[in-house]
Amino acid sequence: MIWATISTWRMSFDGLQKASDLLENRQSAASAVEKLINAVEDNPAYQSVGYGGLPNEDGIVQMDAGFMDGDSLAQGSVAAIENVKHAVSVARQLSQNKTSSFLVGAGATKYAQRNGFEFVNMLTPKAKEAWQSRKEEQIQQELKPYDGHDTVGAITLDQNGSFCAATSTSGLFMKKDGRIGDSPLSGSGFYADSQVGAATATGLGEDIMKGCLSYEIVRKMAEGKDPQTACDEALFSFVANLENRYGSAGAISLIALNKKGEWGVATNVQFAFCVVSEQEKPQVYLAQPKADKTTIFPFTQEWLDNYEREMNMTVD
Ligand code: GLY
Repeated sequence: MIWATISTWRMSFDGLQKASDLLENRQSAASAVEKLINAVEDNPAYQSVGYGGLPNEDGIVQMDAGFMDGDSLAQGSVAAIENVKHAVSVARQLSQNKTSSFLVGAGATKYAQRNGFEFVNMLTPKAKEAWQSRKEEQIQQELKPYDGHDTVGAITLDQNGSFCAATSTSGLFMKKDGRIGDSPLSGSGFYADSQVGAATATGLGEDIMKGCLSYEIVRKMAEGKDPQTACDEALFSFVANLENRYGSAGAISLIALNKKGEWGVATNVQFAFCVVSEQEKPQVYLAQPKADKTTIFPFTQEWLDNYEREMNMTVD
């Protein structure tokens, strides 16, 4: 039976391998996507997700996460949640609620506390240091997604044909207290429909949410477009439209998977992502834009070795 996973950024590779083991052993898409994202949330080397994520302008790590079950269309989200190690697990549990399935701020944190989720001081010494030096610089500039990394988004397709999509992020470095990006927003940061496929997004949330891009990709796939065409069409027409009407478009990268296990990716910046399926060994790819299309090629072993070295150097 077909199973597959696609996830954003090189940082999701270890989690992708965990998801792959689960899917190969007939576990659910929901468990696989949660475990994939938990692996990224646990790693302090990754400064845009979970433990080790960079804080807001007040020095507080506030996380956003979303989860969607493509069978039932149930979705759960948390935003600006604090000190919870696995924001995506809270989102998954909330997806079982008929009401109150999207909680923010103190309400989300209280829910996690009352329901026994793991609490930890999410501000690592390294993240605090980065915040202090940024504060000292007192740079009054427009915020950009943190260089090199952003939201972890993942899509899983299990052997029963069920899809799940999920996201987790600490959002923009030095964001305003309470700022929420696209990641917890169904339709923008993620969307899953097991009759069609799923998509997730990473990049500048304020712009991604202007186009509801994850839903747009799934809608295009429902019309019969393959994931690559759906991703490229959704991204490049939207970016052109936004540049015309709004004056600029931030960095945006999109991943998608359909019922056949075919995947697609579109990006307007250089972007790494990971894929595995029953036909394809775990693989990291690099994508970049070229004239309203996305070009994609596999990473070399040399690149991966360098990356591992750099990551080991950044872990506290
Ligand atoms: N895409 C993550 C954010 O904007 O917060």
